[in-house]
Amino acid sequence: MIRNKGCGEIRESDIGSNMSLAGWVFRRRDHGGLIFVDLRDRSGIAQVVFSPEVSKDAHESAHDLRGEFVIAVSGEVRRRPEGTENPNLPTGAIELYANRLTVLNESASLPFPMEEASEASESLRLKYRYLDLRRPELQRNLIVRHKTTKSIRDYLDEQEFLEIETPMLTKSTPEGARDYLVPSRLNPGHFYALPQSPQLFKQILMVSGLERYFQVVRCFRDEDLRSDRQPEFTQVDMEMSFIDREDVIAVVEGMIKRLFKEVLDTEIATPFERLSYRESMERFGNDKPDMRFGMELKDMADLAGKGNFKVFLDALNSGRVKAINAKGMAGISRKEIDMLTEEAMSFGAKGLAWIKVKNGFESPIAKFFAEDVLRQMAERLDSTEGDLMLFVADKEKVVHDVLSRMRLELGKRLNLIKEGFKSLWVTDYPLFEWDEEGNRFTAMHHPFTSPVDEDIEKMLSIDTSNPELFTVHRSLFTDIKAKAYDIVLNGYEIGGGSIRIHRMDVQKKMFEILRISEEDARLKFGFLLDALEYGAPPHGGIALGLDRLVMLMVGAHSIRDVIAFPKTQKAVCMMSGAPSSVENKQIRELHIKVDAPL
Ligand code: AMO
Ligand code: AMP
Repeated sequence: MIRNKGCGEIRESDIGSNMSLAGWVFRRRDHGGLIFVDLRDRSGIAQVVFSPEVSKDAHESAHDLRGEFVIAVSGEVRRRPEGTENPNLPTGAIELYANRLTVLNESASLPFPMEEASEASESLRLKYRYLDLRRPELQRNLIVRHKTTKSIRDYLDEQEFLEIETPMLTKSTPEGARDYLVPSRLNPGHFYALPQSPQLFKQILMVSGLERYFQVVRCFRDEDLRSDRQPEFTQVDMEMSFIDREDVIAVVEGMIKRLFKEVLDTEIATPFERLSYRESMERFGNDKPDMRFGMELKDMADLAGKGNFKVFLDALNSGRVKAINAKGMAGISRKEIDMLTEEAMSFGAKGLAWIKVKNGFESPIAKFFAEDVLRQMAERLDSTEGDLMLFVADKEKVVHDVLSRMRLELGKRLNLIKEGFKSLWVTDYPLFEWDEEGNRFTAMHHPFTSPVDEDIEKMLSIDTSNPELFTVHRSLFTDIKAKAYDIVLNGYEIGGGSIRIHRMDVQKKMFEILRISEEDARLKFGFLLDALEYGAPPHGGIALGLDRLVMLMVGAHSIRDVIAFPKTQKAVCMMSGAPSSVENKQIRELHIKVDAPL
C-alpha cells in the first residue's frame, strides 16, 4: 500500500499511530537538524518532519527533495510542539515523523512557484494548466462542479426526467450566434454544425413522447468572449410536455434550492422574486439585475422637462432622461467626476450630468433648474446631504445600458453589494425585437417561442401583406409578449427558456412576421416543422448555464476558474495549442481550400 490516508485527513486522534502518506512536495524548509516538508494531495496538506534521530537515511534523502517531487513517506504521527501549531490547517496540530522516504517521481523546475501560483499570469497558468489545477482553490471549484452536477442528476431523476444524448455533429440550430462548422469528408461540400444547444432535438423528443428530458450537454457558440462566455460551455438542458410556465419554474426552483443545500449547505428561499422584462429594464436598466442592492434608476423626464438644459430637452424628443443616486459621493473631486464621466462615455454615453447635494445643490447644470425642481429631483432619488445625482440623457437603450453599468460599478465601489445569493425570474419578454440593421423583426428568444395565451389571437389576426405593417404599426408587434423566462442569479443570466409553439398555424404566422420564407424555414429546420405536424404535445423547457452557476457558487470571477481546460479570449487552448494548422492531406480529403496563410 502506497498510502493509508489522505494528507489532509490525519487528525489528533491519529497521534501515536504509524501512517503512510503520499503526495507532492509543496514546501520544503531546511532547519539544519530538521527538514520540514508540506506534503500535498487532493485532500489537503500534512507537515512531514525528517529528523536524523528518527531515520538517518530518510533525513539524508530529504535534502534532495525539490518542489513538486512526488514522494511516499511513513512514520509516526505526533503532536506538534506547543507554539508551532497552525490553526489555519485542519492538520495543523500534528505532524508525521518520517522513518521512510521513497521518491516516486521527480519534477522539472517549475514555470512558476506553486506557492504563488495564483499570482502568475493567466496565460502562463493556462499553458501549464496541469500545474495550475494542483491549486486547492481550483480543485475545490471542480469538486463543487462535480457535486452540483450530481445533485442536479439525482433531483431530475427523482422528478422522472430521462437523460438523453443528442448529436454533436448536427445541423445548425437557431440560437443566434455563429456556428462552429465541421466539414464532411464523405459528403463533399457539406458541413455539420456543432450544436449551439440541443433546442430542436429536445423539442422532437417531446413529439416522440419522452415527456421529460434533460441533458448535461456541451454547447458551442462562435461569439465574442467575455469572462462569463466560453466558445464551448455546458448547459443543464431540459424539456417537458403537458406543462406550462409555472411547471418549469417550479422544477427549476426545486432544483436550485436542493443543490445549494446539498453542495453549499445554504438555504435559498423559494419562490424566487419575479420581475417583468419591462419592470427590470425600468428599475435596473437591464434584464439581469443584481438585486442584492438598490440604487435603482429613476425616470427624470418630467422634471428634466421643467428646466432649460438643452442636452436634456433634446433627449426628451425621442429618448429618455434617467438618473441614479451615488450615496455619499458628493465629496469627490472634479478630477474624479471627470473619470466617472469618461467611464460613462466608454459605456456609450455622450456625457454624464451630475448634481451634488452639498450645501444646497452644486452643479454646472443647477443654473438651468428652479430650486424647487432640484429638490424634487433629490426627493425622487432619495438623495440627501452628501449624495451625488448622476444623469444620462439619450436614446432609451443607451440610457439603460450606461446607467445599469454605472450602477454596478458604483455598487461595487461603495461596497453596497451584500454577500449571499439572490435569484429572480425575469418574465414577459417581448416576443419580437426590431433589428435596425436587417430592417425586420427577429425573435427575441428563438422562433419556436410561444406568445402568451392572451396574445395568440391578436398575432394570428395580423395581416402580414400590409406594406405599412413594419413601419407605421410596429408597436402592434412589440406589444406581443412571449412565454419566455430567464433566471438570474446575482446579476448573471444563469438560464433561459420558454414554452414553445405547438400549433402549426401559430408557427407559420411566426415565420411570416419574421419574414422567414417557407422555403427558408424548411431549409433551416424542416425536420422540426415536419415533426410538429404529427401531434406535438404542449411543451416547453429551459437551459441553465452550468459554468456560470458554479462560478457564482464558488465565488469566482470568471467561468474559466470552473472549467478544467478553458480557452482564452481569442478562443485558444494555451495548453494543447488548439486551434492549429493541419496537414494539406487532411484538408484535401475534406474537399476544402484554405484561404489563409497556413
Ligand atoms: P440560452 O441561449 O439562453 O438558451 O442559453 C442558456 C444559458 O446558457 C448559458 N450560456 C453560456 N454560458 C457560457 N458561455 C456561453 N457562450 C454561453 N451562452 C449561453 C447562459 C444562458 O442563460 N435552447 C435555449 C434554451 C431553451 O429555450 O430551452 C438556449 O440555449 O447561462
Ligand atoms: P456640455 O453642455 O456638453 O458641456 O455638457 C454639460 C454637462 O452635461 C457635462 O457634465 C456633460 O458631461 C453632461 N452631458 C452631456 N451630454 C450628456 C448626456 N447625453 N446625458 C447626460 N449628461 C450629458
